[in-house]
Amino acid sequence: MKTLQVSLGDRSYPIHIGSGLISKPELFKPYIANKSVFIVSNTTVSPLYSKKLINTISEDAKSVHEVILPDGESYKDWATLQKIFDAMLANGADRKSVIIALGGGVIGDMAGFAAASFMRGIRFIQVPTTLLAQVDSSVGGKTGINHPLGKNMIGAFHQPVAVIADLDTLKTLPPRELSAGLAEVIKHGAIADSSFFHWIEAHTRELTACDLDAMAHAVERSCEIKSAVVAADEKESGIRAILNYGHTFGHAIESGMGYGQWLHGEAVGCGMVMAADLSARLGHIQTHEVERIKKLVAAMALPTCAPPLGNQRFFELMRIDKKSEGGEIRYITLEKIGQAKIEAVDDSIVNQTLSANQAG
Ligand code: NAD
Ligand code: GLY
Repeated sequence: MKTLQVSLGDRSYPIHIGSGLISKPELFKPYIANKSVFIVSNTTVSPLYSKKLINTISEDAKSVHEVILPDGESYKDWATLQKIFDAMLANGADRKSVIIALGGGVIGDMAGFAAASFMRGIRFIQVPTTLLAQVDSSVGGKTGINHPLGKNMIGAFHQPVAVIADLDTLKTLPPRELSAGLAEVIKHGAIADSSFFHWIEAHTRELTACDLDAMAHAVERSCEIKSAVVAADEKESGIRAILNYGHTFGHAIESGMGYGQWLHGEAVGCGMVMAADLSARLGHIQTHEVERIKKLVAAMALPTCAPPLGNQRFFELMRIDKKSEGGEIRYITLEKIGQAKIEAVDDSIVNQTLSANQAG
Protein backbone atom coordinates (compact mmCIF):
# COMPACT_ATOMS: atom_id res chain seq x y z
CA MET A 1 0.00 0.00 0.00
CA LYS A 2 1.16 3.53 -0.74
CA THR A 3 -0.08 6.49 1.27
CA LEU A 4 0.00 10.05 -0.04
CA GLN A 5 -1.02 13.15 1.85
CA VAL A 6 -3.23 16.03 0.75
CA SER A 7 -1.70 18.95 2.65
CA LEU A 8 -4.41 21.35 3.76
CA GLY A 9 -3.41 22.30 7.32
CA ASP A 10 -5.82 20.88 9.89
CA ARG A 11 -7.94 19.45 7.05
CA SER A 12 -5.08 17.39 5.61
CA TYR A 13 -5.90 13.78 4.85
CA PRO A 14 -4.34 10.57 3.58
CA ILE A 15 -4.93 8.85 0.26
CA HIS A 16 -4.31 5.13 0.70
CA ILE A 17 -3.75 3.25 -2.59
CA GLY A 18 -3.37 -0.52 -2.84
CA SER A 19 -4.96 -3.96 -3.14
CA GLY A 20 -7.46 -5.36 -0.66
CA LEU A 21 -7.89 -2.07 1.24
CA ILE A 22 -11.66 -2.43 1.66
CA SER A 23 -10.91 -5.38 3.95
CA LYS A 24 -8.52 -3.50 6.27
CA PRO A 25 -10.38 -2.32 9.42
CA GLU A 26 -7.37 -0.32 10.63
CA LEU A 27 -7.73 2.12 7.71
CA PHE A 28 -11.33 2.96 8.66
CA LYS A 29 -11.19 2.71 12.45
CA PRO A 30 -9.71 6.17 13.23
CA TYR A 31 -12.75 7.83 11.61
CA ILE A 32 -15.65 5.53 12.41
CA ALA A 33 -15.02 4.08 15.88
CA ASN A 34 -18.25 4.36 17.90
CA LYS A 35 -19.92 6.44 15.18
CA SER A 36 -23.07 5.76 13.24
CA VAL A 37 -21.90 5.16 9.70
CA PHE A 38 -23.90 5.66 6.49
CA ILE A 39 -22.52 3.89 3.43
CA VAL A 40 -23.79 5.63 0.31
CA SER A 41 -23.58 3.41 -2.76
CA ASN A 42 -25.64 2.45 -5.80
CA THR A 43 -27.47 -0.53 -7.25
CA THR A 44 -24.40 -1.67 -9.25
CA VAL A 45 -21.59 -1.21 -6.72
CA SER A 46 -23.43 -2.22 -3.57
CA PRO A 47 -23.94 -5.89 -4.57
CA LEU A 48 -20.22 -6.09 -5.43
CA TYR A 49 -18.59 -4.44 -2.41
CA SER A 50 -20.97 -3.38 0.38
CA LYS A 51 -20.94 -6.69 2.22
CA LYS A 52 -17.15 -6.68 2.34
CA LEU A 53 -17.07 -3.11 3.60
CA ILE A 54 -19.77 -3.72 6.21
CA ASN A 55 -17.82 -6.75 7.52
CA THR A 56 -14.70 -4.60 7.77
CA ILE A 57 -16.23 -1.76 9.76
CA SER A 58 -19.07 -3.27 11.78
CA GLU A 59 -16.95 -4.22 14.78
CA ASP A 60 -15.70 -0.64 15.26
CA ALA A 61 -18.72 1.41 14.19
CA LYS A 62 -21.63 2.02 16.56
CA SER A 63 -24.06 1.22 13.75
CA VAL A 64 -23.88 0.79 9.99
CA HIS A 65 -26.65 1.80 7.58
CA GLU A 66 -26.66 1.64 3.83
CA VAL A 67 -28.25 4.08 1.38
CA ILE A 68 -28.48 2.56 -2.08
CA LEU A 69 -29.11 5.06 -4.87
CA PRO A 70 -30.07 4.44 -8.49
CA ASP A 71 -27.06 4.21 -10.79
CA GLY A 72 -26.16 6.87 -13.33
CA GLU A 73 -25.14 10.44 -14.08
CA SER A 74 -28.79 11.27 -14.78
CA TYR A 75 -29.50 10.65 -11.05
CA LYS A 76 -26.91 13.15 -9.87
CA ASP A 77 -29.71 15.50 -8.88
CA TRP A 78 -31.70 17.00 -5.99
CA ALA A 79 -34.28 14.21 -5.86
CA THR A 80 -31.62 11.52 -5.44
CA LEU A 81 -29.61 13.61 -2.97
CA GLN A 82 -32.74 13.92 -0.86
CA LYS A 83 -32.81 10.12 -0.46
CA ILE A 84 -29.54 10.33 1.48
CA PHE A 85 -30.95 12.93 3.90
CA ASP A 86 -34.19 10.93 4.24
CA ALA A 87 -32.31 7.77 5.22
CA MET A 88 -30.00 9.58 7.61
CA LEU A 89 -32.78 11.39 9.46
CA ALA A 90 -34.94 8.26 9.59
CA ASN A 91 -32.03 6.36 11.16
CA GLY A 92 -31.00 8.85 13.84
CA ALA A 93 -27.92 10.36 12.21
CA ASP A 94 -26.27 13.16 14.17
CA ARG A 95 -23.33 15.55 13.78
CA LYS A 96 -20.86 12.79 14.70
CA SER A 97 -22.16 10.44 12.01
CA VAL A 98 -19.81 9.56 9.17
CA ILE A 99 -20.69 8.99 5.52
CA ILE A 100 -18.69 6.51 3.43
CA ALA A 101 -19.00 7.08 -0.33
CA LEU A 102 -18.64 3.65 -1.96
CA GLY A 103 -18.70 4.01 -5.74
CA GLY A 104 -17.56 6.10 -8.68
CA GLY A 105 -17.50 9.85 -9.11
CA VAL A 106 -21.27 10.23 -9.15
CA ILE A 107 -21.61 8.60 -5.73
CA GLY A 108 -18.53 10.41 -4.39
CA ASP A 109 -19.79 13.83 -5.51
CA MET A 110 -23.31 13.26 -4.16
CA ALA A 111 -22.31 11.61 -0.87
CA GLY A 112 -19.72 14.36 -0.39
CA PHE A 113 -22.33 17.06 -0.95
CA ALA A 114 -24.65 15.31 1.50
CA ALA A 115 -21.78 15.32 4.04
CA ALA A 116 -21.08 19.00 3.33
CA SER A 117 -24.65 20.03 4.02
CA PHE A 118 -26.13 17.53 6.50
CA MET A 119 -26.42 19.41 9.81
CA ARG A 120 -24.06 22.00 8.21
CA GLY A 121 -21.29 19.50 7.66
CA ILE A 122 -20.22 16.06 8.84
CA ARG A 123 -17.19 13.90 8.08
CA PHE A 124 -16.96 11.57 5.11
CA ILE A 125 -14.60 8.98 3.66
CA GLN A 126 -14.13 8.38 -0.06
CA VAL A 127 -13.89 4.74 -1.15
CA PRO A 128 -13.61 5.22 -4.93
CA THR A 129 -14.35 2.14 -7.05
CA THR A 130 -13.85 3.49 -10.60
CA LEU A 131 -10.53 4.46 -12.11
CA LEU A 132 -11.88 7.95 -12.71
CA ALA A 133 -12.77 8.33 -9.04
CA GLN A 134 -9.43 6.90 -7.88
CA VAL A 135 -7.34 9.21 -10.07
CA ASP A 136 -9.47 12.32 -9.77
CA SER A 137 -12.90 12.83 -8.23
CA SER A 138 -12.27 11.33 -4.76
CA VAL A 139 -9.42 13.79 -4.14
CA GLY A 140 -9.78 17.53 -3.64
CA GLY A 141 -13.15 18.05 -1.99
CA LYS A 142 -15.30 19.14 -4.94
CA THR A 143 -18.79 17.82 -4.24
CA GLY A 144 -22.14 18.47 -5.83
CA ILE A 145 -24.90 17.65 -8.26
CA ASN A 146 -25.89 18.64 -11.81
CA HIS A 147 -28.52 21.17 -12.83
CA PRO A 148 -30.43 20.61 -16.09
CA LEU A 149 -28.77 23.81 -17.36
CA GLY A 150 -25.22 23.01 -16.28
CA LYS A 151 -22.90 20.29 -15.06
CA ASN A 152 -21.90 20.24 -11.35
CA MET A 153 -23.53 23.65 -10.88
CA ILE A 154 -24.78 23.07 -7.33
CA GLY A 155 -22.24 22.01 -4.73
CA ALA A 156 -19.67 22.77 -2.07
CA PHE A 157 -16.00 22.34 -1.32
CA HIS A 158 -15.85 19.73 1.46
CA GLN A 159 -12.75 17.61 1.92
CA PRO A 160 -13.01 13.96 2.92
CA VAL A 161 -11.17 12.78 6.05
CA ALA A 162 -9.56 9.96 4.05
CA VAL A 163 -9.49 8.43 0.59
CA ILE A 164 -9.18 4.64 0.53
CA ALA A 165 -8.59 3.49 -3.07
CA ASP A 166 -8.74 -0.30 -3.35
CA LEU A 167 -7.21 -1.20 -6.73
CA ASP A 168 -8.92 -4.61 -6.68
CA THR A 169 -12.28 -2.94 -7.34
CA LEU A 170 -11.03 -2.00 -10.82
CA LYS A 171 -11.17 -5.67 -11.82
CA THR A 172 -14.99 -5.51 -12.13
CA LEU A 173 -15.03 -2.23 -14.03
CA PRO A 174 -16.50 -2.40 -17.57
CA PRO A 175 -13.94 -1.49 -20.30
CA ARG A 176 -15.83 1.65 -21.29
CA GLU A 177 -15.59 2.95 -17.70
CA LEU A 178 -11.89 2.06 -17.55
CA SER A 179 -11.32 4.15 -20.68
CA ALA A 180 -13.24 7.04 -19.13
CA GLY A 181 -10.85 6.98 -16.17
CA LEU A 182 -7.84 6.87 -18.46
CA ALA A 183 -8.94 10.23 -19.90
CA GLU A 184 -8.27 11.88 -16.52
CA VAL A 185 -4.93 10.05 -16.26
CA ILE A 186 -3.91 11.53 -19.64
CA LYS A 187 -5.12 14.91 -18.39
CA HIS A 188 -2.71 14.85 -15.44
CA GLY A 189 0.23 14.11 -17.74
CA ALA A 190 -0.82 16.73 -20.28
CA ILE A 191 -1.16 19.57 -17.77
CA ALA A 192 1.66 18.86 -15.36
CA ASP A 193 4.15 16.14 -16.20
CA SER A 194 5.50 15.40 -19.68
CA SER A 195 7.43 12.33 -18.52
CA PHE A 196 4.23 10.88 -17.04
CA PHE A 197 2.51 11.63 -20.39
CA HIS A 198 5.30 9.72 -22.09
CA TRP A 199 4.92 6.83 -19.61
CA ILE A 200 1.20 6.67 -20.43
CA GLU A 201 2.01 6.54 -24.17
CA ALA A 202 4.40 3.67 -23.51
CA HIS A 203 1.88 1.70 -21.41
CA THR A 204 -1.41 1.96 -23.31
CA ARG A 205 -1.61 -1.84 -23.63
CA GLU A 206 -1.16 -2.44 -19.89
CA LEU A 207 -3.50 0.40 -18.98
CA THR A 208 -6.34 -0.67 -21.28
CA ALA A 209 -5.89 -4.25 -20.02
CA CYS A 210 -6.23 -3.01 -16.41
CA ASP A 211 -2.86 -4.42 -15.39
CA LEU A 212 -2.71 -3.71 -11.66
CA ASP A 213 0.93 -2.58 -11.58
CA ALA A 214 0.20 -0.06 -14.32
CA MET A 215 -2.98 0.99 -12.53
CA ALA A 216 -1.09 1.49 -9.27
CA HIS A 217 1.37 3.84 -10.97
CA ALA A 218 -1.38 5.70 -12.85
CA VAL A 219 -3.41 6.22 -9.67
CA GLU A 220 -0.40 7.20 -7.53
CA ARG A 221 1.07 9.71 -9.98
CA SER A 222 -2.34 11.19 -10.78
CA CYS A 223 -3.11 11.62 -7.08
CA GLU A 224 0.32 13.19 -6.47
CA ILE A 225 -0.28 15.72 -9.24
CA LYS A 226 -3.84 16.48 -8.18
CA SER A 227 -2.94 16.75 -4.46
CA ALA A 228 -0.18 19.25 -5.18
CA VAL A 229 -2.53 21.45 -7.24
CA VAL A 230 -5.31 21.23 -4.62
CA ALA A 231 -2.87 22.05 -1.80
CA ALA A 232 -1.79 25.16 -3.72
CA ASP A 233 -5.31 26.39 -4.53
CA GLU A 234 -8.04 24.47 -2.71
CA LYS A 235 -11.00 26.61 -3.81
CA GLU A 236 -9.90 27.27 -7.39
CA SER A 237 -9.11 30.94 -7.21
CA GLY A 238 -6.35 30.35 -9.78
CA ILE A 239 -4.12 27.41 -10.65
CA ARG A 240 -6.62 24.65 -9.74
CA ALA A 241 -8.55 25.52 -12.90
CA ILE A 242 -5.89 23.68 -14.93
CA LEU A 243 -7.43 20.44 -13.61
CA ASN A 244 -10.32 21.35 -15.90
CA TYR A 245 -8.25 20.83 -19.05
CA GLY A 246 -10.68 19.38 -21.62
CA HIS A 247 -13.65 20.09 -19.37
CA THR A 248 -14.94 23.33 -20.94
CA PHE A 249 -15.65 21.51 -24.21
CA GLY A 250 -16.36 18.25 -22.33
CA HIS A 251 -19.02 19.64 -19.99
CA ALA A 252 -20.75 21.22 -23.00
CA ILE A 253 -20.84 17.79 -24.69
CA GLU A 254 -22.15 16.09 -21.53
CA SER A 255 -24.97 18.51 -20.86
CA GLY A 256 -25.67 19.17 -24.55
CA MET A 257 -26.14 15.46 -25.26
CA GLY A 258 -28.10 14.81 -22.03
CA TYR A 259 -26.38 13.51 -18.89
CA GLY A 260 -25.32 9.88 -19.22
CA GLN A 261 -25.20 9.75 -23.05
CA TRP A 262 -21.50 10.48 -23.16
CA LEU A 263 -19.55 9.37 -20.08
CA HIS A 264 -17.79 12.19 -18.28
CA GLY A 265 -14.38 10.73 -19.15
CA GLU A 266 -15.35 10.31 -22.81
CA ALA A 267 -16.39 13.95 -23.01
CA VAL A 268 -13.16 15.00 -21.29
CA GLY A 269 -11.09 12.85 -23.68
CA CYS A 270 -12.67 14.54 -26.69
CA GLY A 271 -12.52 17.92 -24.94
CA MET A 272 -8.75 17.51 -24.44
CA VAL A 273 -8.29 16.98 -28.18
CA MET A 274 -10.33 20.14 -28.84
CA ALA A 275 -8.38 22.15 -26.24
CA ALA A 276 -5.12 20.91 -27.81
CA ASP A 277 -6.38 22.01 -31.24
CA LEU A 278 -7.19 25.43 -29.74
CA SER A 279 -3.72 25.62 -28.16
CA ALA A 280 -2.16 25.00 -31.59
CA ARG A 281 -4.36 27.65 -33.25
CA LEU A 282 -3.12 30.07 -30.58
CA GLY A 283 0.45 29.19 -31.50
CA HIS A 284 1.30 27.56 -28.16
CA ILE A 285 1.90 23.99 -29.34
CA GLN A 286 2.71 22.35 -32.69
CA THR A 287 0.27 20.35 -34.83
CA HIS A 288 2.29 17.18 -34.17
CA GLU A 289 1.68 17.64 -30.42
CA VAL A 290 -2.08 17.88 -31.07
CA GLU A 291 -1.78 14.62 -33.04
CA ARG A 292 0.14 13.04 -30.16
CA ILE A 293 -2.68 13.87 -27.74
CA LYS A 294 -5.34 12.72 -30.22
CA LYS A 295 -3.50 9.44 -30.79
CA LEU A 296 -3.25 8.77 -27.07
CA VAL A 297 -6.93 9.55 -26.46
CA ALA A 298 -7.87 7.23 -29.35
CA ALA A 299 -5.54 4.50 -28.03
CA MET A 300 -7.61 4.47 -24.83
CA ALA A 301 -10.75 3.77 -26.92
CA LEU A 302 -12.07 7.27 -26.26
CA PRO A 303 -13.87 9.45 -28.83
CA THR A 304 -11.81 12.19 -30.47
CA CYS A 305 -14.56 13.83 -32.51
CA ALA A 306 -17.33 15.89 -30.87
CA PRO A 307 -21.03 15.32 -31.53
CA PRO A 308 -22.58 17.82 -33.98
CA LEU A 309 -24.15 20.17 -31.43
CA GLY A 310 -23.36 23.18 -33.63
CA ASN A 311 -21.00 26.02 -32.76
CA GLN A 312 -23.70 28.29 -31.39
CA ARG A 313 -24.99 25.61 -29.00
CA PHE A 314 -21.43 24.88 -27.88
CA PHE A 315 -20.94 28.56 -27.01
CA GLU A 316 -24.26 28.71 -25.11
CA LEU A 317 -23.30 25.65 -23.08
CA MET A 318 -19.72 26.77 -22.48
CA ARG A 319 -20.85 30.17 -21.16
CA ILE A 320 -22.54 28.35 -18.24
CA ASP A 321 -19.15 26.89 -17.25
CA LYS A 322 -18.06 27.75 -13.69
CA LYS A 323 -14.80 29.23 -15.00
CA SER A 324 -16.71 31.86 -17.00
CA GLU A 325 -16.38 35.38 -15.65
CA GLY A 326 -19.00 37.97 -16.62
CA GLY A 327 -20.07 35.74 -19.53
CA GLU A 328 -16.49 35.47 -20.80
CA ILE A 329 -15.41 31.85 -21.25
CA ARG A 330 -11.96 30.94 -19.91
CA TYR A 331 -10.15 28.03 -21.54
CA ILE A 332 -7.44 25.74 -20.28
CA THR A 333 -4.82 25.53 -23.00
CA LEU A 334 -1.42 23.86 -23.26
CA GLU A 335 1.80 25.86 -23.51
CA LYS A 336 3.45 22.49 -24.11
CA ILE A 337 2.71 18.90 -23.13
CA GLY A 338 3.18 18.99 -19.35
CA GLN A 339 2.27 22.66 -18.86
CA ALA A 340 -1.16 24.30 -18.94
CA LYS A 341 -2.46 27.85 -18.73
CA ILE A 342 -5.83 29.56 -18.26
CA GLU A 343 -6.90 32.20 -20.75
CA ALA A 344 -9.75 33.95 -22.52
CA VAL A 345 -9.76 33.32 -26.28
CA ASP A 346 -11.36 35.25 -29.11
CA ASP A 347 -14.58 33.53 -30.26
CA SER A 348 -13.38 33.53 -33.87
CA ILE A 349 -10.48 31.18 -32.98
CA VAL A 350 -12.71 28.93 -30.86
CA ASN A 351 -15.12 28.80 -33.80
CA GLN A 352 -12.34 27.32 -35.91
CA THR A 353 -11.69 24.63 -33.29
CA LEU A 354 -15.39 23.83 -33.02
CA SER A 355 -15.83 23.61 -36.79
CA ALA A 356 -12.80 21.37 -37.19
CA ASN A 357 -13.70 18.92 -34.43
CA GLN A 358 -17.42 18.13 -34.75
CA ALA A 359 -18.73 15.07 -36.56
CA GLY A 360 -20.77 15.46 -39.69
P1 NAD B 1 -19.89 6.76 -12.21
O1 NAD B 1 -19.82 7.14 -10.81
O2 NAD B 1 -21.20 6.93 -12.91
O3 NAD B 1 -19.41 5.25 -12.36
C1 NAD B 1 -19.38 4.68 -13.62
C2 NAD B 1 -20.18 3.35 -13.67
O4 NAD B 1 -19.39 2.32 -13.11
C3 NAD B 1 -21.47 3.36 -12.90
O5 NAD B 1 -22.43 2.59 -13.58
C4 NAD B 1 -21.09 2.66 -11.61
O6 NAD B 1 -22.19 2.08 -10.94
C5 NAD B 1 -20.12 1.64 -12.10
N1 NAD B 1 -19.13 1.16 -11.15
C6 NAD B 1 -18.50 1.86 -10.20
N2 NAD B 1 -17.54 1.11 -9.64
C7 NAD B 1 -17.59 -0.10 -10.23
C8 NAD B 1 -16.85 -1.29 -10.08
N3 NAD B 1 -15.80 -1.36 -9.26
N4 NAD B 1 -17.19 -2.35 -10.82
C9 NAD B 1 -18.21 -2.27 -11.72
N5 NAD B 1 -18.94 -1.16 -11.93
C10 NAD B 1 -18.62 -0.08 -11.19
O7 NAD B 1 -18.82 7.57 -13.09
P2 NAD B 1 -17.32 8.01 -12.82
O8 NAD B 1 -16.68 8.03 -14.13
O9 NAD B 1 -16.70 7.25 -11.72
O10 NAD B 1 -17.48 9.51 -12.29
C11 NAD B 1 -18.00 10.52 -13.12
C12 NAD B 1 -18.53 11.62 -12.24
O11 NAD B 1 -17.46 12.17 -11.48
C13 NAD B 1 -19.13 12.77 -13.02
O12 NAD B 1 -20.36 13.13 -12.43
C14 NAD B 1 -18.13 13.87 -12.87
O13 NAD B 1 -18.71 15.15 -12.92
C15 NAD B 1 -17.54 13.58 -11.53
N6 NAD B 1 -16.19 14.13 -11.32
C16 NAD B 1 -15.96 14.82 -10.19
C17 NAD B 1 -14.70 15.32 -9.94
C18 NAD B 1 -14.43 16.03 -8.65
O14 NAD B 1 -13.35 16.60 -8.51
N7 NAD B 1 -15.33 16.00 -7.69
C19 NAD B 1 -13.66 15.09 -10.84
C20 NAD B 1 -13.94 14.36 -12.00
C21 NAD B 1 -15.21 13.87 -12.23
N1 GLY C 1 -11.68 17.78 -11.46
C1 GLY C 1 -11.28 19.15 -11.29
C2 GLY C 1 -10.93 19.52 -9.91
O1 GLY C 1 -11.01 18.72 -9.01
O2 GLY C 1 -10.60 20.64 -9.66
